[in-house]
Amino acid sequence: MDEFVTLIYNGKEMLLPVVTGSEGEKAIDIARLRAETGFITLDPGYVNTGSCLSAITFMDGEKGILRYRGIPVEQLAEHSTFKETAYLLINGRLPNRTELTQFSINLNDNSLVHTDLKVFFQNFPRASHPMGILSAMVNALRSFYPSLGTSEEEINITMTRLLAKVRTMAAMSYKISRGHELVLPRPDLTYCENFLNMMFDTPVKPYEIKKEVVRALRVFWILHADHEQNCSTSSVRMVGSARVNLYAAISAGIAALWGPLHGGANQAVIEMLTDVHTSGGNCRKAVERAKDKNDPFRLPGFGHRVYKTYDPRAKIIKKICDELLESMQISDPLLDIARELEEIALKDPYFIDHNLYPNVDFYSGIVLRAIGIPTNMFTVMFALGRLPGWIAQWKESTDDPHWKISRPRQIYTGNQQCDYIPLHAR
Ligand code: CMC
Repeated sequence: MDEFVTLIYNGKEMLLPVVTGSEGEKAIDIARLRAETGFITLDPGYVNTGSCLSAITFMDGEKGILRYRGIPVEQLAEHSTFKETAYLLINGRLPNRTELTQFSINLNDNSLVHTDLKVFFQNFPRASHPMGILSAMVNALRSFYPSLGTSEEEINITMTRLLAKVRTMAAMSYKISRGHELVLPRPDLTYCENFLNMMFDTPVKPYEIKKEVVRALRVFWILHADHEQNCSTSSVRMVGSARVNLYAAISAGIAALWGPLHGGANQAVIEMLTDVHTSGGNCRKAVERAKDKNDPFRLPGFGHRVYKTYDPRAKIIKKICDELLESMQISDPLLDIARELEEIALKDPYFIDHNLYPNVDFYSGIVLRAIGIPTNMFTVMFALGRLPGWIAQWKESTDDPHWKISRPRQIYTGNQQCDYIPLHAR
C-alpha cells in the first residue's frame, strides 16, 4: 500500500510519498515540493537527507550493521579477499571462478604505470602530503589514458585500471619519497601481497611476505571498501554528476577523504596517541580536553555520523590488531594507551550521552604501524581500500535513469539589492 505524509501550510495540504528501502528504512520524497509549494528544505550537513537510492551498501547505525550487497562485512572479512570484495561491490554479486580469474588477469595486465608518471612524483616538493599527491596523480591519469570511451567495456577497463594502477602509484610514491628504486608488480602475487612487496622489497633486503600481515591488510581494505554516502563518496557522486571522467571524480573523493574528520582520522589518532605517550601517558587529560567545549580538540577515532553504537568495523580491526601484534611479537605502547583511552571514554557520561564509540580509525593506525606503513601514508591506505566503493557508487550514479546533476539550493541571507558605489565615493 502506498504511504504518504501530509504537509499542511497556511491551510493548504500536500501529500508527500513515502519511499521504503529494502531494509524498511523510510524517506519522504520531496521531489515535487518546490514545484508545488515554492519551499525548499534546509538540512546543514545533510544529516536527514538521502541523496540517492542505492543498492550497494546497507548500514544500520543504531544496530551496528554494515553489509556490502547484502553480505555482512564480518563474513567478508573472515572469508573473502579484497579483490573479490571489490568485484562484489562494483558488479553487484560475487564472481564465479572464471570471472574471478579474468578479473585477476585484468588487474595484473593493468598494474604497470607509465614511467613518465615518475617524473611528476619526483617533482612534488619533498614535504608534500601523500594524499595531495595521490589526488593530483589520479586526476593526471586521464591525460595518460585520453582515449576513454563511454561503452560498458571501456568503462570496465577504466575501473580495472584505477584499481590496479592506484595501488602501484601509492607504493611508487613511497619508494620515491625514500629515494629508492621502484619495485614493479609481480604476476605471481595476490593484490595485497603485491602492494606489500612493492612497498617494502629492496635489492639489499628482500621482503618476506608474512601471512598474518597479508591477512591484516586484506581485512583493513575490506573494512574500508565502502560506507555508503559518506563525505568522500558523496563528493565522488557530486563531482561525477557533472559527467566528468571517473579519474576526476575519484580524485575529488581522495581530496575529501584527506580531512581529519574523515579518512585523515587514522593519522590523527596515531598523532594523538603519540602525543599522550610522549607527554607522560595521561589518558584522562585527552578525554577531558575532548569534553571541553572551549577546546576545539575532539577525540580522533571516536564518534560517527551514522553509528550510534560500536562501529562494527572497529570491532573487527581491534581483534586483528591484537592478533597481529601478538603474532609479530610487537609491543606497541600506543596500543596500551588506546586501550586505556577507550576504557575511560566508554565509562564517561559525556561519551555515553553523546553515543561516542570508537570508529574504524581508532585501532587501524596501530595495525598499519605494525605493517610498517609510515604515518603520513595511513590515509592513502584508506583511499586504496575505498577505491572499489567509490567506483561502484560512481557507476551506480552514472547508470541511474533518473540521474540529475547535483545542485543543492540555499537560503540566501546576504544584503538585499543595493547599488554599486564608485571607488571615489566609498
Ligand atoms: N570527541 C568529542 N566530542 C565529540 C566527538 C569526539 N570525537 N565526536 C562528536 N562529538 C560531540 C560533538 O562535540 C557534539 O557535541 P554537542 O552536541 O554537545 O555539541 C556531538 O558529539 C555531536 O557531534 P557532531 O559533530 O554533531 O556529529 P557529526 O555526526 O556531525 O560528526 C564526526 C561525526 C565523525 C565528524 C565526529 O564524531 C568527529 O569529529 N569525530 C572525530 C573524527 C573521527 O574520528 N573521524 C572518523 C570518522 S570514521 C571514518 C570515516 O568513515 O570517515
